[in-house]
Amino acid sequence: MADETNTSVGRSADVPGAEASTGQAQATAAQESVTSAEKKEVPVATIATLGRYEGQTVKLRGWLYNLRESGKLVFPIFRDGTGTVQGVAHVKSVAPEVFEALKGLTQESSVIVTGKVRADKRAPGGYELDVEGVEVVQRVPETDPYPITLKEHGVDFLMEHRHLWVRTPRQSAILRIRAEIMRAAAEYFDTNGFIRTDPPILTPAACEGTSTLFPVDYFGEPAFLTQSGQLYIESTALALGKVYSFGPTFRAEKSKTRRHLTEFWMIEPEVAYCDLDGLMELAEQFLSHIVKSVLKNRGPELEVIGRDRAKLEAILPPFPRLRYDAAVEMLNAAHKAGHLEQPFVYGNDFGSPDETWLSSQFDRPVMVNRYPADVKAFYMEPDPKDAKFALCVDVLAPEGYGEIIGGSQRVSSYELLSQRIEDHKLPREAFEWYLDLRRYGSVPHSGFGMGIERAVAWICGLDHVRETIPFARTLHRMYP
Ligand code: 4AD
Ligand code: MG
Repeated sequence: MADETNTSVGRSADVPGAEASTGQAQATAAQESVTSAEKKEVPVATIATLGRYEGQTVKLRGWLYNLRESGKLVFPIFRDGTGTVQGVAHVKSVAPEVFEALKGLTQESSVIVTGKVRADKRAPGGYELDVEGVEVVQRVPETDPYPITLKEHGVDFLMEHRHLWVRTPRQSAILRIRAEIMRAAAEYFDTNGFIRTDPPILTPAACEGTSTLFPVDYFGEPAFLTQSGQLYIESTALALGKVYSFGPTFRAEKSKTRRHLTEFWMIEPEVAYCDLDGLMELAEQFLSHIVKSVLKNRGPELEVIGRDRAKLEAILPPFPRLRYDAAVEMLNAAHKAGHLEQPFVYGNDFGSPDETWLSSQFDRPVMVNRYPADVKAFYMEPDPKDAKFALCVDVLAPEGYGEIIGGSQRVSSYELLSQRIEDHKLPREAFEWYLDLRRYGSVPHSGFGMGIERAVAWICGLDHVRETIPFARTLHRMYP
């Protein structure tokens, strides 16, 4: 009988494609010999999970990140997408061809390396690898070396080589955190009764203002890339109650600020029978969940990028609520005290410097609400207490990051919406279906949108959104 405990089942979970034994009692001699052959096979590990293999020989499949050589010793640093680990090979401890292959090996050559995992308190990940064997999959030629060396490069050069730049530990860590933010954001809605409904990307009309649309030739007719899924998920919210959308959105303004992308990812919830207060509660729960998940699941990555965890640990509800009028008072005082160059003109929307200053006054996101209706979108419900103001909220991230969420209660009256479409000179035919939502069973409803890249920039503490997405699209960049 095959002995279950002898089949290295525990480890096979880490080997892609390897199946654990099904544990049938009638194992034949042939099966047993397969099992013992498997037992000898070196397990394929990842750098992030090396701790499970202490004292064992494992195989790593990755790339050479860096190499230090000192006479009889080589110290290759390998990366495999999950982290980096330093290897050690002494001329006397490995076969001559292994030492030769490692000596002078070029940066970013792809390698499959075997070695014994050794705990080392001084090592960044806690482990080192005593190299036993190496297979060079592709050697980067000396005549055409990897362009991104370990010295400093300018941002333009790095963006031009973005397809390679993503390999550096810092950039990989940011992309891992981005993925966690996206996962946790969707998880929040999926586990709180929201249904994901995907709006179209090709649309006949504007949602966030006609001047910032990317036109597309749609079989000879004009169409546009979507600025927001909002109008469509207002429809699905009235069908399903609580919904969200998550997809790419586009803005064509010729802005060069560090917060602007022409293509970015937005997650948008929309809720029937929800008012502005309910929406603000949703936003603070949602953001707290995301930050908590990043702290819990991306600790090593936060360390790689040098993010101060304490700043993120402070992100706990409740978040401060600040009316537009109170925010303006703060801006006026800041101007008087010399913190802001320009005096703020009451009634305007906040500019970048205003948002930066406001958001640096709080240690958690601040929810600025009730802006003047005139500076906000056509679909926002006026405040019944004073129709000059809209029932809207912008959530400004702390540390000067500015707006990461924009949302509002939506106009629910047919007559008012009809009037707004006319006042904003929007093509009424394109909005007939949207008006139907007020003709048939209209209810108060609210929603918001969060740009993933703005959230990543804040949570990672980055200066610019261009590093928050694998391939940024900006005013002057379409390559690679
Ligand atoms: O404030 P915005 O324009 O709101 C809307 O589009 C609403 N229709 C959303 C809704 O209520 N469902 O955009 C929402 C968020 C912003 O707060 C910001 O995080 C992000 O989208 N965003 C951008 N991110 C990067 N680059 C840009 N050009 C962005 N424009 C907006
Ligand atoms: Mg906005």
